[in-house]
Amino acid sequence: MSDFRIIPGDIPLPLPTMGLEFMEPFFHGLLIVAWVVHILFINVLLGASLASVYFNSKGHKEKNPIFDRVAYLLTTPVTISENMGALWGVAPLLLVSILLTPLFYSSSIMISPHWLHIIYGNVVAFLLSYLYKYTWHTLEHRKTLHIFIGTVGVALFYTLPLAFMANVQLAMTPSTWTYTTHFWDALLRADTFFRLVHFYLATFAVTGVFMLVYGMYKRKSDDAEDHEAGVVLTRTGKTWFIIPTVLNFFVGPLVLFSFPDYGIEAFFENGYFWGIILTVALALFALYQLLKDFFNDDLPAKRVWTVVAVMIVAIISMASLRHGMRMGLVKPVLDASHAKTELFQKESMIAFEEAKNAPVAPVITQADVQPGQVLAEKHGCLACHNVDIKVVGPSYKEVATKGYTADQIVELVKNPKPENWPGYMPMPPMPQVPDEDIKQIAEWINSLK
Ligand code: HEC
Repeated sequence: MSDFRIIPGDIPLPLPTMGLEFMEPFFHGLLIVAWVVHILFINVLLGASLASVYFNSKGHKEKNPIFDRVAYLLTTPVTISENMGALWGVAPLLLVSILLTPLFYSSSIMISPHWLHIIYGNVVAFLLSYLYKYTWHTLEHRKTLHIFIGTVGVALFYTLPLAFMANVQLAMTPSTWTYTTHFWDALLRADTFFRLVHFYLATFAVTGVFMLVYGMYKRKSDDAEDHEAGVVLTRTGKTWFIIPTVLNFFVGPLVLFSFPDYGIEAFFENGYFWGIILTVALALFALYQLLKDFFNDDLPAKRVWTVVAVMIVAIISMASLRHGMRMGLVKPVLDASHAKTELFQKESMIAFEEAKNAPVAPVITQADVQPGQVLAEKHGCLACHNVDIKVVGPSYKEVATKGYTADQIVELVKNPKPENWPGYMPMPPMPQVPDEDIKQIAEWINSLK
C-alpha cells in the first residue's frame, strides 16, 4: 500500500461537528438509497434514449410504423428519467462531499476541467433530447434530421458516465495519485474501463426490465399499434436483459480484481463475498424466469413482476457491495486524514496556550518616560509635533539638530520664528505654558538626537 503523503488533511478548522458523527450511519444509508434511485433512472435514460433512436431509424428504413411507435413511446421514460435522475443525483453528490471530503475534493480538482463536462454536457444533451421528443411530428418528413438530433443527444449522454467514473475511481484509489494525475490517467485505467463496461451493460439490463413492464402495459392497449409496440418492447426487453446480464458475470470479477489489493482484502475480510454470491444467484433466477418464457410474446404479468422484484433485491445487494468496496478502499486514507487534522489541532492548541502564558513584552514602562514627554503631551505640543516625522510642525529629532539651549526653546515657544522653518505654517505662540515645563520639554527634545 502506498503511503498517503499526497492526501490533504481534513479541513483543519476547530468547528464543532454539528452532530455529523451521530448522523454518519444515516448518511451512509441515504447515500446507498439515493444512489440506487439515481442510477436506475440514469440507466433507463441511457438505455431508452438509445433504443428510441435505434427504433426510429429502423422504422424509417423499413417503413414500419410499429417501430416508429415504439421509438416514440420510449421518449416519455427518457424525459422523466432525465429529470428524476438529475434530481436524485444531487443527494449522492452532496453526501459524498460530506463523507469523503478530502478524497472527492482532490479527485474533482485533478480531473478538472473535464469534471465540468457534467454541467455543459448535461445541459446540451437535455435540450437535444427535448428537441427530439417535441419535434416528432414537426420533423415527420425530415426523418434523417430528426434521427441526427436524437443521435447527437444520445452520444452526449453516453459521455457523461466517463467523467463520473473517472472521478469516482480516482477518489476511491488515492494510492494511485501523483502530482501530475489528470483526467485521462483516471479514465484510461483497467479499473475505470471495466467499471464503465459493467455499468453500460447493467444499463441495458435495467432498461430491458423496464421494457418488460412498459411492454406489458402497452400490450393491454385497445389501440392496435400500441399493442404491437408492446409486443416489440417485450421481445426487446428480454434480449436486452439476458445478454448484458450474462456478459456481466464475466465483467464483474474483472471489476473486482482491478481494484488495489488492500481494497480487495478489506472487501473479503468484511464478508462481502456472500453479497456477490447472493447477487449472482438472484440474477440467475431472473434469467431462468425469462428463458422459460423466451418465445412467449404474451409474457405473463406474474413473470414480469417476479423479475422486477428479484432485480430490485439484486441491485440493492450490488449497491451495498459497491459501498463496501468503497469504504474498504478509503478507510485507511480517511483515518490518516483525520489523524493529520487531530495533530494539527493539537499543535495549534499548544501554540495558542504557549502564546497566552508567555509574559507580555514591556512596550513602555514608567521609568522610560521622561517628564518632558509627559508635559509635551499635556500642553498639546504632540498634536503638531511627532518625534520622528514631520506633521504640522517639524519632527522633534529635526528640532534637536538645531542645538538650542533650554532657554532659547522657552523663547521660541513664546515667540516663534517661522522664518526658521520655511514651508511650514507659523507655530502659534504659547505664552500660557510655564517656563519650567518648557525647559523640561526642551531637555527631552534635545535628548532625541
Ligand atoms: C498648532 C501646531 C503647533 C503646536 C500646538 C506646537 N507647535 Fe511648535 N511648531 C509648529 C510649527 C508649524 C513650527 C515651525 C514653524 C514655526 O516655527 O513657526 C514649530 C516649531 C517649533 C520649534 C522650533 C522653533 C524654531 O524656530 O526652530 C520648537 C522648539 C517647537 N515648535 C516646540 C513646541 C512646543 C514645546 C510646543 C508645545 C508647548 C509646540 N511647539 C506646540 C507647530 C506647533
